[in-house]
Amino acid sequence: MREFDDENITQAVIGRLSECEDPRFKRIMTAFITHLHGFVREVKLTEAEWFTAIQFLTDVGKTCTDKRQEFILLSDTLGVSVLVITLNHPAEEGSVESTVMGPFYWEGAPELPRGSNLAEGVNGEPTFYSGRVLSVDGRPLENALLDIWSGDGAGNYDMQMPEEPGMKARGRIRTDAAGRYWFRSIRPTFYPVPTDGPVGRLLRKMGRHPYRPGHIHMIVSAPEHLPVTTHLFVAGSRYLDSDAVFGMKESLVTQFERHLPGVGPHGEPMDTPFYTVNYDFRLRPAAAAASAHG
Ligand code: BEZ
Ligand code: FE
Repeated sequence: MREFDDENITQAVIGRLSECEDPRFKRIMTAFITHLHGFVREVKLTEAEWFTAIQFLTDVGKTCTDKRQEFILLSDTLGVSVLVITLNHPAEEGSVESTVMGPFYWEGAPELPRGSNLAEGVNGEPTFYSGRVLSVDGRPLENALLDIWSGDGAGNYDMQMPEEPGMKARGRIRTDAAGRYWFRSIRPTFYPVPTDGPVGRLLRKMGRHPYRPGHIHMIVSAPEHLPVTTHLFVAGSRYLDSDAVFGMKESLVTQFERHLPGVGPHGEPMDTPFYTVNYDFRLRPAAAAASAHG
């Protein structure tokens, strides 16, 4: 057949995959074409609307730089990132849940001794974090690594600061023989995802706010265990029930206990109120995951 109507066009495009040698790619493209055509038919997309969409995606591409990834922000705000994560990292056997990485991870943060202040010179309310990294069977994991990052107390990440201060509120901490970690940073607050680009325009057009609840990021890894990209969310933070990137998980919401000025948990004098947080991360053995899925 050489001519197509608005129904048989879909099968015709899928049919052109007959020589595709990669079965997984063939399956993905077949579903993608099916859903894309179905969407166009469902809303009876006009040419002007399709052109607007193409213009939008062009703008998203043009906004990307080596410091900014607008496509990831688009995926995050449409819930695709968290959908992919949730499908691929089910929280099994009580393991810690994964959530979005976001655009502000910076590889190569300094490895610091336990107890270090990651947020030296960063404004924000002092917070002492502690807990353990365990295997799902409760065994403490020595030498596990927490690669940690957050914004400052006003929600600004170092990468966004116009004065380009280099790495701030970042660091890597290893656990001791009992699987324990502890470090100092600040209490994170809610903040907006970047809204000065095409994704910000899209959010406004959809009538959505851009805010994420207060959280601190970490990638937790340990020998022979599956690494997890996750957050700790501040209990009681605004926007816990409407995270702009849908990344909030109840199991990651943590109490930040407030203390009056006095002596900090490591014996340091504290002349302002401060917070303490305790959270244990449980990781799945890599071998168990490989056999369960393969
Ligand atoms: C973040 O938490 O850093 C973040 C995540 C997704 C989009 C924007 C920011
Ligand atoms: Fe964040």
